[in-house]
Amino acid sequence: MYLVTGATGNVGSELVRALHADGEPVRAIVHSNPADDGFPTGVDVRSGDLTDPSTLRDAWEGVRGVFLLPGYDQAPTFLRDARAAGVERLVLLSGGSAGSGDMSNAISAYMIASETAVRASGLSWTILRPSAFMTNALRWRDKLDAGDVLRLPFAGVRTAAIDPFDLAAVARAALLDDRHAERTYTPTGPESLLPADQVRILGEVLGRPLSVEAQPDEEARKEMLTTTPPQYVDAFFDSTSRAPSTSPRSLRQSSRSPADGLARSGTGPRRTGRSSSADPFGPPPGEPARDVTPRRPRARPRPGAERAAQ
Ligand SMILES: NC(=O)c1ccc[n+]([C@@H]2O[C@H](COP(=O)([O-])OP(=O)(O)OC[C@H]3O[C@@H](n4cnc5c(N)ncnc54)[C@H](OP(=O)(O)O)[C@@H]3O)[C@@H](O)[C@H]2O)c1
Repeated sequence: MYLVTGATGNVGSELVRALHADGEPVRAIVHSNPADDGFPTGVDVRSGDLTDPSTLRDAWEGVRGVFLLPGYDQAPTFLRDARAAGVERLVLLSGGSAGSGDMSNAISAYMIASETAVRASGLSWTILRPSAFMTNALRWRDKLDAGDVLRLPFAGVRTAAIDPFDLAAVARAALLDDRHAERTYTPTGPESLLPADQVRILGEVLGRPLSVEAQPDEEARKEMLTTTPPQYVDAFFDSTSRAPSTSPRSLRQSSRSPADGLARSGTGPRRTGRSSSADPFGPPPGEPARDVTPRRPRARPRPGAERAAQ
């Protein structure tokens, strides 16, 4: 039996579906959403509150694997209960900012505290530190309703946003396969994109001529404070102010061309005599370049999932 906390959330709901599709028994923990919130038949749905682990005491029977959300001070009690119940594997959803080790940043701090509790739990663990979720785009819904030009914060900051579906697939693998024990992974999406790139793709999907206008920091801060506690708003600004502002180079554009290096070491492409091109990733002479564009983010927003935070 696999116990999934945050089972109505972006990642948890995908994980419930993935494990269920494998034929694994799943116990879905719901908090404020209704218990019958679209789970596949056969999923054991229970109510529970991670701020009060006693509400989960009846949910441990037969559980061998757990998916845990970060950010709950009561995690040590939850983890003790899990161990006492005979749980074997635990996957913690953390975040990339935990890697900074910065306890003065409110978001990093709660991720780090959760990771520390998990490492000390005596359970076999895997920690996931994903990049931002593609579902964060749902936060733009009101702006999308208002028009085609979106005033967005952090317009110069790139993210390789990940689809929660893909993150759930990583969590599933970590729960089912012991080879991921005691490992920390940093899953990301396939493309490093500016908000303007993401909005352009969204526009293509929605059939709208969408574009982005950079929102000044002070305006963005005021807007974020209407929905987010100040310490987390500060944490967002702190993290994004450290993000590099340069545009990353692609493999083709690399100044230290791997192609040149490979050619010099004699492992380059076979020369045809017709061209001196040493780029093994480039087109053969006379042929158009191959399309090496990575998979585009899928626009599969789920209603009611706007609350995600880093
Ligand atoms: N968004 C990002 O870019 C990002 C990046 C890295 C890490 N993360 C982390 O990923 C986590 C999950 O994100 P998400 O997008 O899946 O969130 P989400 O869609 O908002 O889901 C949050 C889940 O937490 C549950 N929940 C809320 N309070 C709870 C409580 N007291 N006890 C038990 N469950 C509770 C909710 O249940 P109900 O619906 O039943 O209330 C919901 O299922 C967040 O904790 C965030 O820190 C997010």
